[in-house]
Amino acid sequence: MSAPHVVLRPLEAGDRDRLLAWRNLPEIARWMYSDHEIRAEEHARWFEGALADARRRYWIIEADGRPVGLANLYDLTPEHARSSWAYYLADPSTRGQGIGAFVEYWVIEHVFGELGLNKLWCEVLIGNEAVWRLHEGFGFQREALFRRHVCKDGVPTDVVGLGLLASDWAATRMASRERLVGKGFDLPA
Ligand SMILES: CC(C)(COP(=O)(O)OP(=O)(O)OC[C@H]1O[C@@H](n2cnc3c(N)ncnc32)[C@H](O)[C@@H]1OP(=O)(O)O)[C@@H](O)C(=O)NCCC(=O)NCCS
Repeated sequence: MSAPHVVLRPLEAGDRDRLLAWRNLPEIARWMYSDHEIRAEEHARWFEGALADARRRYWIIEADGRPVGLANLYDLTPEHARSSWAYYLADPSTRGQGIGAFVEYWVIEHVFGELGLNKLWCEVLIGNEAVWRLHEGFGFQREALFRRHVCKDGVPTDVVGLGLLASDWAATRMASRERLVGKGFDLPA
């Protein structure tokens, strides 16, 4: 079975307009906490802050050389050895090929390997079941249910808080690797 060649490369200044277009796609905005139409100036301020903030890291997800999505760490807190994270695939035609699963694996390995943190966590809208199930498949545990935490289209919505510890990953890493290899990905040792 063949899989796309997936690379996460650091965000660059030249990615600014692409990100604005992606972030305003209804299919992406519906899963974000804020879903108003983002204008160029607001985006430019956000983008400048994103590149300058030591507590955040952004990567463009490329599949077979084509930019297809964004992954990021935020609230990167070395004093507590933890970080939060999120990602999306902007083009629906890229979904279902294992790219999301590869991104999970890559970010988890980066956080517990290169960054040496102890915990990775995230918040997901309860209705985004594909994503919280995908996280659980990599060993994330549901740690919180934030009731009526975010208003989406004026409707209060619950949010799931999930966490993965370095020790959880040590126990599930091999099985996650094997699943990805089974999907056709070539993984570094
Ligand atoms: C959800 C998303 C990240 C999944 O990425 P993907 O590349 O399509 O997923 P994969 O092909 O790697 O599939 C991984 C697993 O999730 C399952 N899955 C993927 N999309 C699914 C869906 N919509 N519903 C149910 N299961 C789904 C797959 O069956 C697969 O399961 P398996 O490992 O048991 O075979 C991607 O569709 C996406 O970006 N969605 C919109 C944006 C978003 O929700 N971002 C996250 C905000 S927190």
